[in-house]
Amino acid sequence: MAAPMSIMNTVKWISKSLKISRLQVSCGSLLPVRYSSAVGSSKSLVYEKYGDPVKVVKLEQRPLPEVDDDSVLVKMIASPVNPSDINSIQGIYPIKPAFPAVAGFEGVGEIQEVGSNVKDLTPGERVIFQGSVTGTWCSHLVCPANQVMVVPEGTPPLIAATVKVNACTAYRMLADFENLVEGDTVVQNAANSGAGQALIQIAAARGLKTINIVRDRPDLQELTDYLHGLGATVVTTEGDLRKGASSLLKDLPKPKLAVNAVGGKSIIALVKQIQHGGTIVTYGGMSKQPVMVPTGSLIFDDLKFKGYWMSRWHQENAGSEEARQMFDQLCRWGGTGQLRAPQHRLVDIDNYGSALEKALGEYSTEKQILTFGS
Ligand SMILES: NC(=O)c1ccc[n+]([C@@H]2O[C@H](COP(=O)([O-])OP(=O)(O)OC[C@H]3O[C@@H](n4cnc5c(N)ncnc54)[C@H](OP(=O)(O)O)[C@@H]3O)[C@@H](O)[C@H]2O)c1
Repeated sequence: MAAPMSIMNTVKWISKSLKISRLQVSCGSLLPVRYSSAVGSSKSLVYEKYGDPVKVVKLEQRPLPEVDDDSVLVKMIASPVNPSDINSIQGIYPIKPAFPAVAGFEGVGEIQEVGSNVKDLTPGERVIFQGSVTGTWCSHLVCPANQVMVVPEGTPPLIAATVKVNACTAYRMLADFENLVEGDTVVQNAANSGAGQALIQIAAARGLKTINIVRDRPDLQELTDYLHGLGATVVTTEGDLRKGASSLLKDLPKPKLAVNAVGGKSIIALVKQIQHGGTIVTYGGMSKQPVMVPTGSLIFDDLKFKGYWMSRWHQENAGSEEARQMFDQLCRWGGTGQLRAPQHRLVDIDNYGSALEKALGEYSTEKQILTFGS
């Protein structure tokens, strides 16, 4: 049973190093429950044990904690279903909420009520949540006022709903690992993922070129056209690269940066493209396979292999000027249309089962985004 032990140790280490307390990560659900004056309960997607999301997640009407002096009541508007939500429900994500837990790590909502000490927030303002607030798959939530961030005017709601996980990750990976300047190239796999779509657009807004690897599928041309429409320079498959689609790449500078959301052998296609001394950042493991790095790339190509976890960055930089600048820039790009929300399907919380089933499937570019009625 070595694997579960090592996961437990990792979880303890991460919880300790990020100072994530159970209270912080469970939003209002661990606070003493007294009924709020304005809204008594919240329609919530709750799980009481780990397992298959389709089986363990239930829709429940849950009592809301009181809006105390330093808290706010938020009416949720939209919240996506991301792989981290799925992994969390499956019990294989490092952030472990206390049970019963409301699922969901990000979303956008509207302030409905503020506590008596809260002077800088007003009912009607749109907000997203800081690092430690979870449990966003619900119609209403109560959380500390200092854990919400007002969304700038003009930000499309679905940009706000999806900015914290994928858009921020793409932004940081393009900012923090290599000194990328206009005209440089970045290569990525799972390019049709939510994070991949954000990366294409942020790169294009910065004048960077992207080589985008997707898996082969019957509607490949449609997907290719869609990604080109977002600003992708090249869209290809691992198979086509092996067969010599590299003619597509001949006019591009070799990438300084590669980002990997798949793991397994998929990294080989990235290793083949990247320039000597470049950096490969792994941020996801969709294949559920260990990253299989060719030995020669370590010895002869001097490649740097890094990992990245956005939650750690959010935790370490919450409230910082750099975090504010990142959110403002992403929201500005959202307002000008340079950053569009990922291709998506809106699903009312009452139909959550179909959202979970679709999110668990493969070969679909559509992000499932839960909505919470009027
Ligand atoms: N480290 C971080 O801080 C961080 C932040 C954000 C996201 N992530 C991770 O990044 C990954 C993408 O997240 P997302 O929200 O952008 O995902 P998403 O929108 O749900 O898209 C999933 C992507 O994974 C691909 N995929 C699924 N199963 C696969 C498999 N067996 N082999 C190869 N590709 C597969 C899909 O391609 P098909 O269309 O071909 O199925 C699609 O491109 C996830 O692993 C997520 O946990 C990490």
